[in-house]
Amino acid sequence: MSAGKNLIVFDTTLRDGEQAAGTRLGVREKLELAMQLARLGVDIIEAGFPISSPQDFEAVQLIAEQIKGPTICGLSRAIYADIDAAGKALKNAKKSRIHTGLGISDIHIASKFKDPKYGRTLKDKKANAIDMGIKAVKRAKRYTDDIEFYCEDSGRADKEYLYQMVEAVIDAGATTVNIPDTTGYAIPEQFGRLIAGIIAEVPNAKKAVISVHCHDDLGMSVANTLAGVKNGARQIEGTVNGVGERAGNASLEEAIMAIKTRKDFFSIDTKIKTQEFYKTSKMVSEMLGIAVPPNKAVVGANAFAHSSGIHVDGVLKNTLTYEIMRPEDVGSPETSVVLTARTGRHGLKHRLNALGYKMSEAELDQIYQRFLEVADRKTEVFDEDIAALVSTEMRTVEHTFDLQYLHVACGTGTLPTASVRIKIKDKDEPATAAACGDGPIDAAYEAIRIATGQSPKLDLYSIKAVTGGKDALGEATVKVINEKGIRFTGRGVSTDIIEASAKAYVDAINRMVATVKEKKTKK
Ligand code: KIV
Ligand code: ZN
Repeated sequence: MSAGKNLIVFDTTLRDGEQAAGTRLGVREKLELAMQLARLGVDIIEAGFPISSPQDFEAVQLIAEQIKGPTICGLSRAIYADIDAAGKALKNAKKSRIHTGLGISDIHIASKFKDPKYGRTLKDKKANAIDMGIKAVKRAKRYTDDIEFYCEDSGRADKEYLYQMVEAVIDAGATTVNIPDTTGYAIPEQFGRLIAGIIAEVPNAKKAVISVHCHDDLGMSVANTLAGVKNGARQIEGTVNGVGERAGNASLEEAIMAIKTRKDFFSIDTKIKTQEFYKTSKMVSEMLGIAVPPNKAVVGANAFAHSSGIHVDGVLKNTLTYEIMRPEDVGSPETSVVLTARTGRHGLKHRLNALGYKMSEAELDQIYQRFLEVADRKTEVFDEDIAALVSTEMRTVEHTFDLQYLHVACGTGTLPTASVRIKIKDKDEPATAAACGDGPIDAAYEAIRIATGQSPKLDLYSIKAVTGGKDALGEATVKVINEKGIRFTGRGVSTDIIEASAKAYVDAINRMVATVKEKKTKK
């Protein structure tokens, strides 16, 4: 059966996705997610497995009653009680589907149908399983015409037997046949050939839609799904964020964006509103309590973030240099340039301009040097860090003293000591000094007083974190008073708060000295 030009998208986040270890969704949460899946534009929502629990029954029933647009589907084994429960739960759906089936690999049949009532030999059991499949489809027909049959563990099944099962259930009335790689065992090339084989060899295959349902045990679920599509599958099954049993299911956003981005290769489309992906991903992650890794394709926080100098430079000239999708196409926040130690001068300049700072090339050089020092110690430099750097570095004052070296030793039961080396303007040799104090900052300040020969009184000291996290920049502010009672404010920033404090003190001393010099030249 042709599915028209569009690929049918079957979402199983609420059923297979919810089977992820340690997760459980409430009925209301399922309804809320189903509403979002409808906004995303999926064709089928597999809302649950009604026989599995009264709560799942209720969730499927509620979603069937309230969600219009997508077909609502309920899972069942090839057992009458399961099928009847699914049929009842779906009763009020505008469009309903029953998804029934059984394990068809030798290992599934031998292990699940051990009881001699299913047959004495594997051959008998396999013949009986086909019979069970046919009966299940016929039973499901009592409730809806839309029947999907799953041939569980097709990835490891005997191919000829799989063909027989597919033919039998289509003859019985299945309108979609699902070929799951239940254990994530398949290799894309081989899985693609399996799908092509079914379509070519099963006489009535064209009367049904062939669907692919792949798991990610070897990290190939999306690749296998795409191989299936390339070889004639017209329905894909998967979950948002790839959540699901064990390593999860094929991630729908990845498979669909691959099909969209490489339309030249797949020549098929879907009705999915891809702009809803980011929002849906966030919802699924929050509700299931499963974090999205930052480097996850399509919806990860870094999916459109650039940090290395060469990449930042390219993206600022033309995003297409390093992006094959636009963030807005998946509803993700804009392309971002993440400032790290690998960000070039050009990247920093661009961010400074975006933040409204206009500066000369010399000033940019100065900020860039400080930026590199900070970025070496922090994983990421935020806008607030840049603002703090600019405000301390650009408060231009002559640097009579420059802190070149600071070493502090302190700890429980030890006397805090500090040693400093300070470069003095117009002097060849730096000044060095060491001192003790009540604490590490007091010791550092005493050493700075000795090395600079300046002894302003400390009037105020404060320190604050510029951003969150344990590698945040600390911004120290000090006010000092000279012997005439005039106050001078100094600031310093660093990931090390003692260094920030020392820098702030030296900055205040520089301001004090510069004012005295200014006054002398005016006289
Ligand atoms: O992975 C699988 O085989 C399944 C079926 C129940 C469709 O989830
Ligand atoms: Zn599955």
